[in-house]
Amino acid sequence: MVQTRPKESRGRSGDTSGARFEIERHTVSDGRSGMIADVRRGLLARPKTLPAKYLYDERGSQLFDQICDQPEYYPTRTEEALLQEIAPGLIRRCSAEEMVELGSGASRKTRILLDAMTDACDRPCYVPVDVSEEMLRSTADALRGDYPELAIHGIVGDYEKHLRHIPDADERIVIFLGSTIGNFTEIEGRRFLRALREQLRGGDHFLIGFDLVKPVEVLNAAYNDAAGITAEFNLNVLRIINRELDADFDLDAFAHEAFFNVKESQIEMHLRPATAQRVTIGAAEIVVDFAAGESVRTEISRKFTKASATALLSAGGFATEAWFESDNGYFALALAVAS
Ligand code: AVJ
Repeated sequence: MVQTRPKESRGRSGDTSGARFEIERHTVSDGRSGMIADVRRGLLARPKTLPAKYLYDERGSQLFDQICDQPEYYPTRTEEALLQEIAPGLIRRCSAEEMVELGSGASRKTRILLDAMTDACDRPCYVPVDVSEEMLRSTADALRGDYPELAIHGIVGDYEKHLRHIPDADERIVIFLGSTIGNFTEIEGRRFLRALREQLRGGDHFLIGFDLVKPVEVLNAAYNDAAGITAEFNLNVLRIINRELDADFDLDAFAHEAFFNVKESQIEMHLRPATAQRVTIGAAEIVVDFAAGESVRTEISRKFTKASATALLSAGGFATEAWFESDNGYFALALAVAS
């Protein structure tokens, strides 16, 4: 948590210390009623599904961090190495002074770009956008010491709605790393990109990570790590629903399953009970029956080609300006421009 530092912005005029930190708050849609509606819809549907975003409570985020360190899980380290390679040229190329990050990270990947930006320009500004104010504050906290010249303008809000007031800068770049776009269906992804595009100006840059199609053994291994961390991460969603929605999932009855669905070009994570289960979701006022072996799909993680990624960007209102691929062809970063 933040302790003694000023919570409000310090004025720009006369402030020669460089670092400024301000937070802009928007109303984020009510987590709990949204969750009730989502869980009810997903568990009453056939096949049963749950939105991937509910995998991430504090424990879920910690487990995801651990996944990134597993030898089988290539995306994070591949994207990071690629960023190391291209960041300086990329930042120079778009003369970016302001970087807007969707889903604030303060991760090693963010820092690679911030390093390039603080090298290349005098008044760099970082705009992390997140639904969690606590996350934004700890992000800002972690960065302030290391980047004294960096202005930080955090936005607590929904990045499909609340980017209208981002600080004016001549050259802006929005970044969306990690292939998080892969958690959306094609239609959701298109809708998301269009909503983002509407809030930007023509000419704004957009850097987005795409996990690519690759040999199925590599994909399946990445989502079935030998240490069982991904299994824990997947099962944690049931723990979250039990806690948040007063449900009674028996975690021991469900098994983790993840496989590449070739036809849909996506990894699917499921939870599958060996025996029939009856689950009461108190807050959603439903009772859900699982037949033995009937799974609930907890996540999709789409795998792209250059063609499918650029087509998606184009449908969302972005023209791909440059395409950077890791040497092994596992992961790509697209630099697009709002058209
Ligand atoms: C954070 C969405 C990029 O899809 O690979 C990791 C989440 N799920 N292992 C992914 C995840 C299972 C991850 N993303």
